[in-house]
Amino acid sequence: MNLVVVNKITELREIIKQYKKEGKTIGLVPTMGCLHKGHASLIKKSSQTCDITVVSVFVNPVQFGPNEDYDKYPRTLESDRQLAAENGACLIFAPSAAQMYPGMLKFSDITMVAPPFKLVDMMCGKSRTGHFDGVCTVVTKLFNIVQPDYAFFGMKDIQQLYIIKKMTADLNIPVEIVPCPLVREESGLALSSRNTYLSDADKKSALSISQSLFTIQNAVKNGIIDTKKLFDTAMAVMDRNVEPEYIEFVDRETFEPVEQIDRPSIAAIAARVNSVRLIDNILIGD
Ligand code: PAF
Repeated sequence: MNLVVVNKITELREIIKQYKKEGKTIGLVPTMGCLHKGHASLIKKSSQTCDITVVSVFVNPVQFGPNEDYDKYPRTLESDRQLAAENGACLIFAPSAAQMYPGMLKFSDITMVAPPFKLVDMMCGKSRTGHFDGVCTVVTKLFNIVQPDYAFFGMKDIQQLYIIKKMTADLNIPVEIVPCPLVREESGLALSSRNTYLSDADKKSALSISQSLFTIQNAVKNGIIDTKKLFDTAMAVMDRNVEPEYIEFVDRETFEPVEQIDRPSIAAIAARVNSVRLIDNILIGD
């Protein structure tokens, strides 16, 4: 099947209507473009699960803070198109900001979807005020536009995934959220579109982020379950050019912070390398 790029909401709706009439299942992979192997795994999973896979490519202005990288975020539609096609997508939905937010002059002009405060008053939400409101708003809009049966999200953005699952359940949105495993480079570095900002030297330093998570995982396997000790173990392997923003430990089911790893949990890190903000996480305590 040839891949079609659609920019207009009305056009996409017509195409989806036809597919639904034919009884086809729809999978959505929401992205901001600059697709890499992590996205490829989501698209592949969607095309194995659904008849039709739609990849949205939209750098969503309302999830970026005023001092963040909205303007410089890489826009690479031509290579995105190729990667999406190779992994079985049928459609790319690549709207303009004006299509998605017509007449928007400022954030306060649009209806926003806000997740519960306790889920944003932690981890990435602490430093990225309003970020998850922006994510929930655009994801809700994409769900309403595409009306997918399934939507595929990577576990690298673990807080985002948890918040989207909660939002979908709380708002009774009829879509099944499919979590997909985090994908790493052979070196261990978690794949991210923001890795394109890193020099070779930065990448070397950034490796200590995943190394610190592997160290935590090994320590838990060796019986260390106190998160204060695990925090110190992680910090001990962090490269001096890495500035950690947080290392947090949460329950995998409830996303509540934990002090002891005595249940399935997640260790999550956000850190800056040469001002590039990276996130990573690992499952522990099984
Ligand atoms: O994870 C992302 O790339 C974005 O936050 C998402 C889910 C596409 C919403 O803009």
